[in-house]
Amino acid sequence: MSDIRFDERVVVVTGAGNGLGRSHAMDFARRGAKVVVNDLGGGAFGEGSDQRVADVVVDEIKAAGGEAAANYDSVTDGDKIVQTAMDAFGRVDVVINNAGILRDKSFHKMTDDDWDIIFDVHVRGAYKVTHAAWPMMRDQNYGRVVFTTSAAGIYGNFGQTNYSAAKLAQLGMAQTLAHEGRSKNVNVNTIAPIAGSRLTETVMSKEMVDMLKPEYVTPLVIKLCDENSAVTNGLFEVGAGFCAEVRWERTQGAYLDMSGFDAEDIEDNWDKITDFTDANHPADIGEANKLLFANLRRD
Ligand SMILES: NC(=O)c1ccc[n+]([C@@H]2O[C@H](COP(=O)([O-])OP(=O)(O)OC[C@H]3O[C@@H](n4cnc5c(N)ncnc54)[C@H](O)[C@@H]3O)[C@@H](O)[C@H]2O)c1
Repeated sequence: MSDIRFDERVVVVTGAGNGLGRSHAMDFARRGAKVVVNDLGGGAFGEGSDQRVADVVVDEIKAAGGEAAANYDSVTDGDKIVQTAMDAFGRVDVVINNAGILRDKSFHKMTDDDWDIIFDVHVRGAYKVTHAAWPMMRDQNYGRVVFTTSAAGIYGNFGQTNYSAAKLAQLGMAQTLAHEGRSKNVNVNTIAPIAGSRLTETVMSKEMVDMLKPEYVTPLVIKLCDENSAVTNGLFEVGAGFCAEVRWERTQGAYLDMSGFDAEDIEDNWDKITDFTDANHPADIGEANKLLFANLRRD
């Protein structure tokens, strides 16, 4: 097994001042990458800013013999983060969309501000950074992008309507970009991590936070960004020493009589509609629609 190296590669990690982002940035740097350590340095709920947060990680990387440059912008100004990479290192090869905040509240207590700030940071932020780096990745016929979703998006979670919706929006973005990037060797994958951090210390015991090291998530991120990796359009749950791929599953379904059917026919076919025996796993929208449209081709 050869070492995965990123010599001469430039990696942008957003939200790299703490938690998962810091762990990713440190490992990329250890493997030879020039790393842009982006962090706004605000609080866990999106308040304030502090340049020292990114600076500390840059200093750590340099002290270990690596190369890094700090960027203090919000991901919502993602083009400025990519500009820092260009100014400092002249290219961008990898983008890790990791920056994030929380505004957990049950839906009936959620304000427009709680909704908007979560979409700004998680959706617009990931869009802005990726959109600025995308043309360069296409032109150089090489790029790796990792989005950071959440189990809260995949499965839903009480008190996280805004966060769940924004996190699954990132998966939608990643899935489409994986298709658009395929012919240009730009691989796009999504992780749903679990790790002890200031975002999880509000809902986990200190013991759990200490045990769930971000360093258990980073190896998958490194593997997905390996220049020799062909993996794209993947969704992975990762953390606590566990790593697994997740995919959509569809039942064989029922075909209704197109000369006319109503809710009672749906009711009569309910067992078929919901029976996951021999379920299928469409790889793309074409494959999904092929089965869906089968009824149109019947005599
Ligand atoms: N920790 C978990 O268990 C877990 C689970 C699912 C998803 N996630 C996701 O993983 C990512 C990292 O989370 P973490 O647990 O390491 O949290 P963290 O709070 O330790 O780190 C997030 C970092 O992002 C930075 N940040 C926030 N808003 C920013 C902005 N607008 N621009 C630039 N930087 C900004 C913060 O300053 C912070 O340093 C987040 O997207 C989070 O939603 C984490």
